[in-house]
This record gives sequence, C-alpha cells and structure tokens, in this order.
Amino acid sequence: MSPETGPEISAEQREREESLVRAVLDSFDGTESPRLKQLVQGVVTHLHAFLRDVRLTEEEWRQGIDFLTAVGHITDERRQEFILLSDTLGASMQTIAINNEAYADATEATVFGPFFVEDAPRIDLGGDIAGPANGQPCWVEGTVRDTDGKPVAGARIEVWEADEDGFYDVQYDDDRVAGRAHLFSDDAGAFHFWAITPTPYPIPHDGPVGRMLEATGRSPMRASHLHFMVSAPESRTLVTHIFVRGDELLERDSVFGVKDSLVKDFVEQPAGTPTPDGRDLGGSTWSRVAFDIVLAPDGV
Ligand code: BEZ
Ligand code: FE
Repeated sequence: MSPETGPEISAEQREREESLVRAVLDSFDGTESPRLKQLVQGVVTHLHAFLRDVRLTEEEWRQGIDFLTAVGHITDERRQEFILLSDTLGASMQTIAINNEAYADATEATVFGPFFVEDAPRIDLGGDIAGPANGQPCWVEGTVRDTDGKPVAGARIEVWEADEDGFYDVQYDDDRVAGRAHLFSDDAGAFHFWAITPTPYPIPHDGPVGRMLEATGRSPMRASHLHFMVSAPESRTLVTHIFVRGDELLERDSVFGVKDSLVKDFVEQPAGTPTPDGRDLGGSTWSRVAFDIVLAPDGV
C-alpha cells in the first residue's frame, strides 16, 4: 500500500499529499549550506514517504510524539535514551558501516555503546583491568598491525566490559572503577592483559526503549563481548568488540553489533592450568583469547 501503488487514494488525494511534500521541500530551498539542505530535504522526503506509506493515523502520530517525549525526558548526562533508540533500530550500526568501509584486512568496527569512560586507569602490559569486578579471569593477548602487516608500537588500547552480574562500573552508585583500563602495545605491536570472561547482559530497558522492545517481542540482551578502542598516529581509530564463540545470543544481539570476524574463541582452561605469566589464580578456572588487530590508515 505505498503511495505509488496503493489503490485506495484518489488522484485528488494523491495530488494534495504530493503538493504538501513539494511545499515543505521548497521551503528549504534557500538553505545556504548544501549539506544541510541535502539532510533536511532528505529527512522530509523519507518522513513523508513513511507517513503516506503506512497511512499513519492521528492517534498513532500522537503516540509517536509521546514516545519521543519520554525518550527525551529520561535522557540526562548519565542516560542517553536517544542513542539507545538509534542502537536498537540499527541506525548506529548503519552509520558505522557507512563510515568504516572495509579496507584491506583492517579489523571491523562495531557499536561504541554508552559505557566508555575517559581517563580509565593505565595498566602495564600483563596488568588486570578487572579491579573489583566479579568474573572468571580471562587472559587476552594479541598484536596491533597496520594493513601492510607492520607492527604498530605504542598503540593506545582502551578496554572496557561488564562484570559477571551484567553491569558496568558506572551503573553502580559507588564510584567504583572496574572492568576498564588502557594500555599501550609494545615495540613489536604486541599486548596482553588480564580481564574477565565476557558474559551476556541487557541494555538498559527500564525506559521507553525497553517498552518498545517489549511491545515488539524483542529481547534487550546483548551477546557477551569485550570492548576495544585502539588509536595510533596515522591510523583510523578502531572502535570494536570481540564476542564469545558459542554464545547463543550471537544471532540476536539487541543492537545488531555482531560481525563474524569479531567472534573469537575464549578457550576455557581447567582449574590448576598454569597461567601464561605465572599468576596464581588460587585453583580457579580461567579462559584465554587471542585478538590480532589491524588498523586501517587514517582518512580512508
Ligand atoms: C554496550 O555494549 O555497552 C552497549 C551498546 C549499545 C547499547 C547499550 C550498551
Ligand atoms: Fe557493552
């Protein structure tokens, strides 16, 4: 039932609707910036096409306005419901896809999420990002290279993750710093550190976006992951995660962030298995994962 094909509307009605679209588009004709003009006229074109395509009722329009109002009301400096809405509609991942076109064998990007914090503590190579976060210890190792295969020394590697209860440190009220840190690759581009084995968790779903997910039968759960942001001079900054092979949520991540190339083997180590750095884990099990990172050149 599109405006092009729908049989229900008369020629007069179609002309009335189309002339309104033309009038709105024309009203932006004088926009000085060509890019702004393209953006606003694009929004008008697609918005009117949607309204006409679904034949939006006035009650549905009011409910839509109420929904967006609620998204605005719950948003503050700690909670960004608009980004959550963008994430759950796949708009964040589409914008990432457009802006991070595949380049040679560069590592793929995925969604940033709301839980990155500037000034996370620095750890040395081999340090532990967990702090007070609960979870199974996980040894993470890899290299940072450019697309010519050259090691990238001194790359800044930011890592952050939720604890085994499904919460990031910033979701607690006690100012703890846990499950996050930054470190630098060594002269051979290598890095290794301790983290905790990622576990699944729900995106915040106690607000309007959560109600949208519930009303549409969708789950708020994210596939288990560990976030990375890797930057180095002359390289495109990489924002990504690694995911746990075998996680049943890989096929239905609530923000569409999973890419096959980012799914890694987190290999379970039986209790008592010696650790790579001789750390004594008191007989607990642990896991290990390898992640070799390839940075695209800046400006591609
Ligand atoms: C996250 O992975 O931290 C995240 C991403 C999108 C929405 C909410 C959380
Ligand atoms: Fe996350």
